[in-house]
Amino acid sequence: MKVSVILAHPDKRSFNRTIAETAVVELRQAGHSVSFHDLYEEGFDPILPASEIPAQAPCSSSIDQHCQEIAEAEGIVIVHPNWWGQPPAILKGWVDRVIRPGVAYNFLEGDSGEGVPAGLLKAKAAIVFNTSNTPAERERAVFGDPLETIWKNCIFGLCGVKDVRREVFSVVVTSTEAQRQKWLAQVRDLVMRCFPAR
Ligand SMILES: Cc1cc2nc3c(=O)[nH]c(=O)nc-3n(C[C@H](O)[C@H](O)[C@H](O)COP(=O)(O)O)c2cc1C
Repeated sequence: MKVSVILAHPDKRSFNRTIAETAVVELRQAGHSVSFHDLYEEGFDPILPASEIPAQAPCSSSIDQHCQEIAEAEGIVIVHPNWWGQPPAILKGWVDRVIRPGVAYNFLEGDSGEGVPAGLLKAKAAIVFNTSNTPAERERAVFGDPLETIWKNCIFGLCGVKDVRREVFSVVVTSTEAQRQKWLAQVRDLVMRCFPAR
């Protein structure tokens, strides 16, 4: 199975990096073909230029490569911290440029963009791993947990991915090594439940 893993965190010593590496190792051990993108490491340019907005617009070879990978992915894993209830800007830009019309969704004939698009992603499942410093109860009650809606409804739901799981690890800043090891066990477990070995 082809699985795309996308990481957005600027620090290589971050817990997010460890989560992503744990998922990649687990997926490869299970025999999957994994494409792993650390967006900061590769210097991903998150700025969507006007020239790329039209559905048929030509894109750079790097964006074409990202688009091809996400279109072919049978599984997707996204890893990022909660920054202001949103993904880091670099990942928002990846969504803007890669989750594009003709790749991830299409408007139906006669629809100029006002209707409900058809999802094109063929991934059977997507997992979003988030870290934060806000207890789950406060995140829901005070902020409405915007990342839940962004990933499940606005992005993957719209693009046709039916099975979307999200795991939030919090509070990271005060977490012990033992707690982090437990979280990494949860990462391995969820990855294997969604993308079992062939
Ligand atoms: C720019 C920025 C914005 C942040 N916003 C939030 C936030 O809105 N809610 C929250 O719980 N934590 C927030 N944090 C804390 C991060 O979520 C936290 O540092 C991260 O999840 C810890 O994982 P790491 O050790 O891999 O960096 C923010 C951190 C930064 C740098």
